[in-house]
Amino acid sequence: MRPPLAELARPAKIEHEPPVSQDTIVEITGLCQRFGRRARTVTALAGVDLTVRRGEIFGLLGRNGAGKTTLVKALLGLLRPTSGTVRVFGRAPGAAEARTDIGYSPEEPGFPRYLYPRQVLELCGALSSMSGAALAAAVERQLTSSELQAVAGRQARQLSKGMAQRLSLAQAFLHEPQLLILDEPTADLDPIGRRQVRDLIVAARERGATVLLNSHLLSEVERMCDRVAIIHGGRVMREGAIDELLAGDRELEDVFIEVVEGAGGGTGYGPARGWASGLPPAPPTELPPAPPTEHPPWLAP
Ligand SMILES: Nc1ncnc2c1ncn2[C@@H]1O[C@H](COP(=O)(O)OP(=O)(O)OP(=O)(O)O)[C@@H](O)[C@H]1O
Ligand SMILES: [Mg+2]
Repeated sequence: MRPPLAELARPAKIEHEPPVSQDTIVEITGLCQRFGRRARTVTALAGVDLTVRRGEIFGLLGRNGAGKTTLVKALLGLLRPTSGTVRVFGRAPGAAEARTDIGYSPEEPGFPRYLYPRQVLELCGALSSMSGAALAAAVERQLTSSELQAVAGRQARQLSKGMAQRLSLAQAFLHEPQLLILDEPTADLDPIGRRQVRDLIVAARERGATVLLNSHLLSEVERMCDRVAIIHGGRVMREGAIDELLAGDRELEDVFIEVVEGAGGGTGYGPARGWASGLPPAPPTELPPAPPTEHPPWLAP
């Protein structure tokens, strides 16, 4: 039976996104991220709520495997959350227009191996809608400020670890994005490079940008960040303004250890043993006997 005309004339119900405050850049609610199936399921994020506000430098801390990179990937739309919602600038992550607003420096930059640094920057700039003279000028500026001019004649595969990280940061800052997502941005840098990147991040905040930063370098986080969240086993265990967390002259390292130990120590993704638990590391599990070695014919005994 056809629906009555009045029914057809009624406009379809539009699900409006809940309004997001102008001051909220990232809003994460109940984010769960699981990988694998059945017995092999890994719960990387187990219900994360987090807000990053405009113009702040937000530090995400946590032990190895805590879920920091997974959270960043969910923000960029590189992973589809198992459940929960993620909004970046009020939009679902991964939208094409978000590329111009976001600069991302991954934990492990994987540039096309045979491109030269200038070509990598030109490619990334084009993906962020830059072109012509503005792109050319920005590329030269970044090559100079990241001190990559000297290695401009080497392909990405020939760069040292620190040089590759510099290139990764150069492409993230290239288009002066409103939101910088930096996953361990100084892990491979020399001390001078670390200071340069700190200056770059603070300068970005001064021009009004927002920065989300994953780091294990607590002294750096203490110096730069306005707010931090400590995640453990895929959950936010502590979140707050850095000044509040460090009230009473506390060190961030002490706060971090207190939070991790309060959560049972360990890595958060397995038994609470190992360095952080005070318990000796778990004994090695017995391996099944190795299958008999099959010699290829040309190595037959
Ligand atoms: N594709 C994947 N498949 C299965 N498990 C994954 C996958 N990606 C991440 N994990 C698991 O999710 C958990 C969180 O990983 P994640 O990379 O987010 O940690 P992290 O906090 O960034 O750690 P690190 O400080 O070492 O970089 C880990 O247990 C990891 O092994
Ligand atoms: Mg990581």
